[in-house]
Amino acid sequence: MNHLFSIGLFIHIIGITCIAGGSIGGLVLESHIWKHIHESPEKVHVLGPLMSKYPVIIQAGTLLMLFSGLLMLGALGWTVAGQWWFIIKMLFVVALVLNGMLVAKPNGLKLRKLVPRLVKGENVKNDINKIKRNMTVFHISELGMLLIVYLLAIFRF
Ligand code: HEM
Repeated sequence: MNHLFSIGLFIHIIGITCIAGGSIGGLVLESHIWKHIHESPEKVHVLGPLMSKYPVIIQAGTLLMLFSGLLMLGALGWTVAGQWWFIIKMLFVVALVLNGMLVAKPNGLKLRKLVPRLVKGENVKNDINKIKRNMTVFHISELGMLLIVYLLAIFRF
């Protein structure tokens, strides 16, 4: 049973690394995009295919977290599942996933469609600024919720 828990924890840490690494990589790429989008949109156009790579790393990390979390729960005899810190942690995990699916994904797709139009010289500035605002809200809420999940998992209030 102890081995099962340790294997679960090992995979949990790899999952956290994927989620955090993917999020930070995506943030760096995005800040580069916002910096260049208006004065040299062709640079952003080249970076476009990279934008879909980071979410894949984050999704893989999320699946690893789920699988390893279930493994640890099993190893602990499912007692943790009834504790408040764990229930609240799970609510935040669901909110993190929904935030990615309902805010980040559609806005990322919209941006990828708008960039070629910007390169052609169309006036899509307002739409792009709206996406930038939505993505800022997404990143702030995502990082905030991730921090809460870390705190809940470590301190178990
Ligand atoms: C974004 C998602 C998640 C993050 C950031 C996260 C983070 C953490 C952290 C930092 C720990 C503490 C590790 C330690 O004790 O040294 C932990 C433990 C644990 N997590 Fe997660 N976790 C996530 C998702 C999940 C999910 C989806 C499940 C269950 C399906 C889960 C189940 C557990 C369990 C059972 C423990 C061990 C608790 C104990 O030792 O009593 N986690 N998690």
